Amino acid sequence: MKTITIVGLGYVGLPLACLCAEKGHKVYGFDVDKSKIDSVNKNESPIEDEYVAGKLRSLKNKIRATTDPKECIPVSDVVIVCVPTPVDRNNSPDLTAVMNSVSTVSKFIRQGALLVIESTIYPGTIEEVVLPILQKEKFNIQKNDLLVAHCPERIDPGNKKWTIEMLPRVVGGITKEATQAAADFYRGILNANVLELSSVKAAEATKIMENTFRDINIAFVNEMAQSFDKAGIDILEVIKGASTKPFAFMPHYPGSGVGGHCISQDPYYMIEKGRQFGFNHEFLKLAREINNNMPHYTVELLENELKKLKKAIKGAKVGVLGIAYKANVDDVRESPAYEVINILKTRGADVFVFDPHVQKESNVRDLDELLNKSDYLVLVTDHKEFKSMDLEKLKKHKILVVIDGRNCLDKEKIKSMGIAYHGIGRS
Ligand SMILES: NC(=O)c1ccc[n+]([C@@H]2O[C@H](COP(=O)([O-])OP(=O)(O)OC[C@H]3O[C@@H](n4cnc5c(N)ncnc54)[C@H](O)[C@@H]3O)[C@@H](O)[C@H]2O)c1
Repeated sequence: MKTITIVGLGYVGLPLACLCAEKGHKVYGFDVDKSKIDSVNKNESPIEDEYVAGKLRSLKNKIRATTDPKECIPVSDVVIVCVPTPVDRNNSPDLTAVMNSVSTVSKFIRQGALLVIESTIYPGTIEEVVLPILQKEKFNIQKNDLLVAHCPERIDPGNKKWTIEMLPRVVGGITKEATQAAADFYRGILNANVLELSSVKAAEATKIMENTFRDINIAFVNEMAQSFDKAGIDILEVIKGASTKPFAFMPHYPGSGVGGHCISQDPYYMIEKGRQFGFNHEFLKLAREINNNMPHYTVELLENELKKLKKAIKGAKVGVLGIAYKANVDDVRESPAYEVINILKTRGADVFVFDPHVQKESNVRDLDELLNKSDYLVLVTDHKEFKSMDLEKLKKHKILVVIDGRNCLDKEKIKSMGIAYHGIGRS
């Protein structure tokens, strides 16, 4: 049994803390957010995540959460940093949370402990940003005073199949000993392979590669959706067709925008790193541009349908379904819904918003009230509550147009009721 401190109790840190406790380790959670600490100490999840909520209930007080680093860091054999790595207003990497948390840890961590950074960072961050902070506290990392490694997190909150325990990992350390120690630790808690890479940089780059791959593929399919739409081709049918190829095709789906703390942010980390060493990541930038434009495209689809009905967007009563950036979670970080709502408001529409997972930001009580107040709908999040709604209600509430930003509704049924339907690459 080891003593472990997880720094940052969010979507990444909480499942990890639960897994470590489940495997019999003594676990501390350290966070600067007092409300999160209080909730974890009451065995309640501060985020909407069934996995975390269930585990915290069953683990009952096995995780001790604290805002005091002195209580947990000096007694820990392993410290794992899972703090946010957003971008700033100019889309430049904001490493403040990593620097602050490592600085706090460096003051209390004991010699010989394993320090793992799980937060997503650009290649070079540990060597260029983290090590200087540790060296200030006189740690000689090359001599293994501390074993420092990176093990990027791959968790997909809400994914029931690929839980934290089942996801393979890669690790890379500053020294061979650090790589080995990190790999041994993760092998002890995971039911999945752990691949040791030759450097910490390669581990950092692996995560950036995975997430930019996804952003680029989504941008590609978003572009195809817009051109197929003009050609009168349903993109979902084409993706289904292409997916019958048993190799070299991987389906990605178009939508009204890419949000969340990872896919919409991480490419900027590599774009900036490239810029620093004189490389222009044209492909990554273009993907970001295409994906960032999808909320505009979504509103344009509505405007086109309104034109056909000889109606103006100014004063139109538009119901927006969903605020969360993806289905069945309450995570709103970088959600394209905000951009859709902003554009609609800027164009003078009367906007009603409902998200059953984000009640506090909804301006109507429920779906019925939204349908009652709206003439036109824009679906931004494919929550189960929207996918399973009784479509007859659309007719009952005299909805005239549905823009399906996630291609998740039954288009034939909606059209059969005399309601205009337009998805992303499908009409
Ligand atoms: N959310 C995901 O699906 C996901 C998946 C894989 C990787 N990641 C990466 O993992 C990292 C964490 O993401 P997240 O979604 O868990 O973020 P989050 O915002 O949900 O949680 C981060 C936590 O860190 C805390 N924190 C901030 N500064 C701190 C400090 N100085 N000391 C201690 N705690 C501090 C915050 O209060 C918060 O509770 C990011 O780098 C992200 O890119 C996220």
